[in-house]
Parts: sequence; C-alpha cells; structure tokens
Amino acid sequence: MHEAPLRLDLQADELLTTTRTVRKRLDFDRPVDRALITECLEIAFQAPNGGNMNNWRWIVIDEPDLIAQIAAVYQAAALDFEASFGDAGYPGAHVEGADRIESSTDHLRANLHRTPALLLPLFAGRPEKAPNFMQATQWGSILPSVWSFMLALRDRGLGSAWTTAHLWREQEVADILDIPSDRYTQVGLFPIAYTIGTDFKQARRRPADQVIGFNGLPPRQPKKKD
Ligand SMILES: Cc1cc2nc3c(=O)[nH]c(=O)nc-3n(C[C@H](O)[C@H](O)[C@H](O)COP(=O)(O)O)c2cc1C
Repeated sequence: MHEAPLRLDLQADELLTTTRTVRKRLDFDRPVDRALITECLEIAFQAPNGGNMNNWRWIVIDEPDLIAQIAAVYQAAALDFEASFGDAGYPGAHVEGADRIESSTDHLRANLHRTPALLLPLFAGRPEKAPNFMQATQWGSILPSVWSFMLALRDRGLGSAWTTAHLWREQEVADILDIPSDRYTQVGLFPIAYTIGTDFKQARRRPADQVIGFNGLPPRQPKKKD
C-alpha cells in the first residue's frame, strides 16, 4: 500500500525557527521519492528572484554511483578547507558548541555517500569578477529559494544540511555532472533524506541587541579574551 505523505503542518514561526542543519539525524536507509523532491522544489521556485528571470538550475542526484563520486569530492574538499586554516586554527572554534558542530560535520563528511539524494543548485553566470550589485543579485536570486526548499522538506519530515565545502573543488563536481563551469555557478550541496524523528529545537544565536542597530550599526562588542 502507498504510504500517505507526512505533513507536520508546523506553524510558520515554528517552521522558521526549527529548521536545522541535519547531519547525524539523516535517515540514510530510507529512500526519498523523486516526486516529493520535485514538490519541495516547486515550492522553492516561489521565492523572489531578480527580474523573475529564473536563472536558477537544480540538479537532483539520486544515482548511487554519482552520489558516491560527489561524496568523495566533498570529503577531499572538506580536508582542503581544514588545511586552509593553517596555524591559526578554525576561525569558528570560539563559538559555543563548536565541538558538537565539528563532530556533526565529521559525521556528514564520512557518510555523505549514503544519502538517498543530493541537491546541487546552480545559477547561470559567474559572479567572481562582477560588481557587488551583480553578485548580490545573482546570489540573492537563488539563496531564498534554497532556504524555502529546506523549509518544505522539514514540513514533510525530511531534512538537509546547507554545505559549501565541496566548492573548494567545484570543477571536480562539474566534471562528474558535465556542467560547463564557465557558464554556471554551483551554490552548495544539500543532502536530502528523511530525518530520524521530527522534533528539532531552536538554535542558539547571538542576542538581538548585539546584531541589530536602529539607525546605524549595532554597538561594537569588546573582543573576547582567551
Ligand atoms: C553558507 C553556509 C555554508 C555551510 N557550509 C557547511 C559545510 O560545508 N558543511 C557542513 O557540514 N555544514 C555547513 N553549514 C552548516 C552550518 O554549520 C550550520 O548552519 C550552523 O552550524 C548552524 O546550525 P543550524 O543551521 O542548525 O542552526 C553551512 C551553512 C551555511 C549557511
């Protein structure tokens, strides 16, 4: 018998505040229907985009051999990223919970090949040499839709993790998927899987008074001493 699609029907604020980066709680053993991914993407396409030009492209990878190849690139690229810290160490090491994030990112790195599907969003064009207006327009014309996709997943009992690590080796993924990288920019890589349980908490963030300024920048925070 066909399983009825799950809907959590979360209220907007709960959906927005409990859609987390999921790594350890991705259910790698449960397949995800293409129709469900397409449904979530169609919701994502309602996000704003510059001039309504729809310059976005979305590659869904659900072929296990391709997933394995891309996961291997992700793993190597994440090591490139780590190596880039040099003696200074990871710049986010001071953040509360950094140890937990590290163990979670390590888990994803070691298991990405097991994900039932991956999403690779792209936009047409290359922003590197463009003025800030163009860059802001290109990135701003795809990032809201990616977040909408993650929200749509969450309400259906699925989850993802926003990742950019593979972009250290963007060309290698372009080669695997035959993407002309002079014409398309890869945005990130998103595992797609059901989550193990559907209860997620709000995240800890810097308090509002440290990051909001009315009529100007918020007051500068004194640097933390070691
Ligand atoms: C632009 C961006 C890039 C990120 N890159 C990675 C990544 O390469 N690998 C990873 O495991 N997580 C990555 N993350 C996830 C963050 O580590 C995560 O959002 C953060 O720890 C806060 O957790 P939360 O999203 O559950 O609130 C990235 C998130 C963003 C927004």
